[in-house]
Amino acid sequence: MNDIAKTSSGNVVWHQGRVSEDDRRGSLAQNPLTIWLTGLSGSGKSTVAYDLEYELLDRGFKAFVLDGDNVRHGLCGDLGFSADDRAENIRRVAEVARLMNDAGLIVISAFISPYRRDRDGARRVIGEERFVEIYLSTPIEICEQRDPKGLYEKARQGRIPDFTGVSAPYETPTDPSIRLDTSALNRRECMDRLLEELLPHASRK
Ligand SMILES: Nc1ncnc2c1ncn2[C@@H]1O[C@H](COP(=O)(O)OP(=O)(O)OP(=O)(O)O)[C@@H](O)[C@H]1O
Ligand SMILES: [Mg+2]
Repeated sequence: MNDIAKTSSGNVVWHQGRVSEDDRRGSLAQNPLTIWLTGLSGSGKSTVAYDLEYELLDRGFKAFVLDGDNVRHGLCGDLGFSADDRAENIRRVAEVARLMNDAGLIVISAFISPYRRDRDGARRVIGEERFVEIYLSTPIEICEQRDPKGLYEKARQGRIPDFTGVSAPYETPTDPSIRLDTSALNRRECMDRLLEELLPHASRK
């Protein structure tokens, strides 16, 4: 158990299962990872995440995407976009990613996750050895031109409060494992770059 776990009751005791992490790696023939995509709205997180999930499954890996908008349809449907709600959003997602990693799966997460403190919190919950930070560094001008959901236009009109890059900050990752500018690389090139880096980590040695 990690030392930052909090419980509201003192009467909670961890119950150790009988299947070891190593047994699970063997049974699934892979190393669990959380591939954490961060970047502005429209930078390409969801597109890249689902492309990568497809490519990994095609190679026999067991992977699953946790996507920002999708998670807000259920688990995080009660949260908004204030800094506190974003922190809670990322905390919950990190706990889910950790459970999925404990189950042996590869998680690909696609969240703006604009605050460094929240991303670092996710890294602590998930574990340094499993967490791979990927920064989608697509410039805001390009994201805004793409505006796939029309959100920048609304945000510029003042119709969306706390919109990252317009009325709320984005804190750039200081030391990501990979940087991808999706305005300079096409979708295939993004996959080639990611797979080159990730397959050696995901494959069971
Ligand atoms: N190389 C590329 N990789 C990914 N997306 C690309 C690329 N080139 C162009 N695009 C386009 O950029 C847009 C990215 O939108 P996408 O929904 O993936 O962004 P997002 O980061 O998930 O945004 P949000 O935070 O709002 O969910 C899509 O319309 C996609 O087709
Ligand atoms: Mg998205």
